[in-house]
Amino acid sequence: MKTIFLLVAIVAVVKAQFDPHQLPDRSTMVHLFEWKWDDIALECENFLGPKGFAGIQVSPVNENVIAPKRPWWERYQPISFILTTRSGNEQQFANMVKRCNKVGVRTYVDVVFNHMAAKQGGQAVGTGGSRAYPENKDYPAVPFTNADFHPSCGIQDYNDAYQVRNCELVALRDLNQTIPHVQNKILEFLDRLVDLGVAGFRVDAAKHMWPNDLRVIYGSLKNLNTAHGFPPNSKPFIVQEVIDLGGEGIKRDEYVDLGAITEFKVSAAIGKAFRGGDDLKNLKNWGEQWGFLESSKALVFVDNHDNQRGHGAGGADILTYKQSKPYKMATAFNLGFPFGITRIMSSFSFDDTDQGPPKDSSGNIKSPVIQKDGSCDAGWVCEHRWRQIYNMVEFQNQVKGTEVGNWWDNGKNQIAFCRGNAGFIAFNLESFDLNQDIQTCLPAGTYCDVISGDKVGSNCSGKKVLVGNDGKARIIIGPNEDDGVLAIHKGKKL
Ligand SMILES: *[C@@H]1O[C@H](CO)[C@@H](O)[C@H](O)[C@H]1NC(C)=O
Ligand SMILES: *[C@@H]1O[C@H](CO)[C@@H](O)[C@H](O)[C@H]1NC(C)=O
Repeated sequence: MKTIFLLVAIVAVVKAQFDPHQLPDRSTMVHLFEWKWDDIALECENFLGPKGFAGIQVSPVNENVIAPKRPWWERYQPISFILTTRSGNEQQFANMVKRCNKVGVRTYVDVVFNHMAAKQGGQAVGTGGSRAYPENKDYPAVPFTNADFHPSCGIQDYNDAYQVRNCELVALRDLNQTIPHVQNKILEFLDRLVDLGVAGFRVDAAKHMWPNDLRVIYGSLKNLNTAHGFPPNSKPFIVQEVIDLGGEGIKRDEYVDLGAITEFKVSAAIGKAFRGGDDLKNLKNWGEQWGFLESSKALVFVDNHDNQRGHGAGGADILTYKQSKPYKMATAFNLGFPFGITRIMSSFSFDDTDQGPPKDSSGNIKSPVIQKDGSCDAGWVCEHRWRQIYNMVEFQNQVKGTEVGNWWDNGKNQIAFCRGNAGFIAFNLESFDLNQDIQTCLPAGTYCDVISGDKVGSNCSGKKVLVGNDGKARIIIGPNEDDGVLAIHKGKKL
């Protein structure tokens, strides 16, 4: 009996780590890559909350090395767990989390604890003013000393799990997470973020750590802070960065009972399909049949901050803001089809792959400039402010809990499907018109296509779709239109 109760308890705790703790009528998070905390707080209040975004993923919050030319990757080189970075300090971060929670937007922190800042000539200086001596594996502001790290070796063979987890990823000093002092310092850091009201973590470089060490760390985390609206006994959401496209020594399945996984197979497959490398009709059984993890354990995205610049996985298949038409189509599919825990990317524009966020002459990150039409300027792309993307966030909320119905395709690259009786979406990736009467499953009436326009008062600035008493509508998407998608839902009926 006792064993059974214990088992039930353990299963319940582990399961809770898959729950992103989003409001019931919300569905997707956005990665505000390299944004400053004060700007995010405003963005939550002015845009993300009102538009129904469920959460934000933020860049690493703890002190990192100041690297020459301020590349984006300096934030993945910790100097200490002091909460001061170019995005702001602890007080600003705390204020942001509070204000975002208030408008229903949860915070997920990108946490880096596989390693500390890489070996470099002499002393390293952090964004909080701390000094460290990576040469000697000495980080006094934590403190970590030589004894807290694995002996130095390089990762030569990704088929060798021992090397991947115990050696140094690009000379980054590799912490030994089996050591109690290391576990305690990591836990203090994560628990402080929980106290400040975050909903969970994206664990950077999880596959470079031993699952058993992560199990101990996750299992010791505090429950979420009820003062921020989380129910009692809520465990932090965990999503682990495990890149596994197959063919490596370490499998995502070794981590799947510990928390959700970044499902890079989705990113590669969706990019390939909307680049024309796979017929869209094959998306009909999108999900586990494609070799993806089960829906509740997979964090799914079109691109992330690594693979949009050729780091990480997926190579030439990955779509980014630079290919805006297929990118918007892929994003619409990712948000329109019921699979996975969804995340959208919000980027700064870049030409070289090391380039950091827009900065002033002193190296401070610049705030995004929001233009009259709501789009961003000053080097920020803000995909989340593209109508075709934020309106799909609303679509996803409107159809939440419904299944795919009435799949239609032309045998190749024109597809359409219903989401219950709540929404309908169609795609055209052919070089000729989509012009068909298709079952929409929606009640009769006139709907506003939220891709080509939006509902304005009782009118629509885009295409109007007339649904007949039989639920059918004439769907038209030309090959040369700005967008290859049409989406209607119950929330935007005229
Ligand atoms: C990591 O630390 C544990 C606990 O102190 C120790 O047993 C193990 O040998 C260390 N691993 C390496 C590769 O140094
Ligand atoms: C509705 O919007 C369309 C497209 O913007 C416009 O052409 C039309 O004049 C508007 N109709 C009314 C009644 O305002």
